[in-house]
Amino acid sequence: MMSKYKLLTGMQDFLPEDTKNWQYIENIFYEWVDSYAYESIRTPILEAKQLFVRSVGETTDVIGKEMYTFQDISSEEIALRPEGTVSTLRAVIEHNYLYSGPKKLWYYGPMFRRERPQKGRYRQFHQFGVEALGFSGVDIDAEIILMSFDLWKRLGLESNVQLEINTLGNGEERRNYRQYLVKYLEKHKHLLDEDSLRRLDSNPLRILDTKNPELQEICNQAPRLVDFIGEESKLFYDSLKMILTELEIPFHENHRLVRGLDYYNHTVFEWTTKQLGSQGTVCAGGRYNGLIQELGGSDVSGIGFAIGMERIILLMRTLGCFDFKNEIDFYVVSQNEKCLIKAMKYATILRSHHYSVYTYLGEQKIGTQFKKANSSGARYAMVIGESELEHNTITFKDLRSGKGQRTIESENMICFLQEWVK
Ligand code: HAM
Repeated sequence: MMSKYKLLTGMQDFLPEDTKNWQYIENIFYEWVDSYAYESIRTPILEAKQLFVRSVGETTDVIGKEMYTFQDISSEEIALRPEGTVSTLRAVIEHNYLYSGPKKLWYYGPMFRRERPQKGRYRQFHQFGVEALGFSGVDIDAEIILMSFDLWKRLGLESNVQLEINTLGNGEERRNYRQYLVKYLEKHKHLLDEDSLRRLDSNPLRILDTKNPELQEICNQAPRLVDFIGEESKLFYDSLKMILTELEIPFHENHRLVRGLDYYNHTVFEWTTKQLGSQGTVCAGGRYNGLIQELGGSDVSGIGFAIGMERIILLMRTLGCFDFKNEIDFYVVSQNEKCLIKAMKYATILRSHHYSVYTYLGEQKIGTQFKKANSSGARYAMVIGESELEHNTITFKDLRSGKGQRTIESENMICFLQEWVK
């Protein structure tokens, strides 16, 4: 059948074969954040456009080129959130939520960026993010990275992802570095591509992040930010590396890692995989001291990261991590309408005992219903025919192993199943 309407470019539908995988991963995520005592926060998808412009940075691609914005009926400038950090901070400040001390929060939901779609890059995508607010020491940087490392183990991905870290120093150190970087890049201006030329005035540090193979040598030879940071920043960074080593978390220092959002300083990091081509960053984050104050809150620091759910799903599918059996316990087969009504009552009791039950609906011969039960992957069939109806009994048939079938008094159903279904 040809649908009259199609998905918008860069959007995706997820059918039950996919959502099973999503739910599997989501459950691991929920347990994981619980085990670190992070608390959940939910914020709206729509926010004031200025919130993102001011904090993520006007010259970044996310804001300058990719944000979905519109004017609502009262001419207010609205944006579909392109990320979750800033919305979280807005909410925390608005509700004065840090009044009682530091907080560890997590969120999960759709984000929107009008990027050029490709495998692993979509216009609506989902982030699972954590933010630790009000902790200034390097211990939280280490714990945050440890937490992400732990997640890969829980997902069985630890040998397929690599950690890259860098320090961006503080704002002043970066401004100083920027002058030297621009001078250097100006000298090679004739070799820069269109994107880099555009960034030369607005966001030169991002040029270092370029994927263009022809620019790699120029970027490799560029002055390094790490050589421009002061003693205090360096000490902070060295302490982080020392703790990561002690915690046995392998990392690679990437002096060109600058991140695509403007609010970062000091620690930045990314977890990447080689399995997903150019969209291989599965998790990214860093420290954003000063941002909470800039948005109207108190002068406390923050650090966090976000995981791209679609990329985790793609990676796990590539590695063959998903192989779910159908989870139906009972498939209800009934001879006629009266039998069906009775079966519905029994099915409700089964469900209240945490069994999953699929009831066949419609007018098909019992033989056809059995065929469907067999191909459904269910473990057992629950059969109600005329005889069962008349004698208040239920027949259970094993569809997978060789236990055959048993007819029992309906009032003994749960007792019987506790033994039989083990
Ligand atoms: P980000 O690097 O922009 O950081 O995004 C984080 C992750 O979201 C990426 O590493 C990637 O896995 C996923 N992602 C981003 N864009 C797309 C896309 N178009 N399609 C599919 N996946 C995508 C942030 O958003 C920061 N808020 C992270 C953070 C939290 N920093 C501190 N706290």
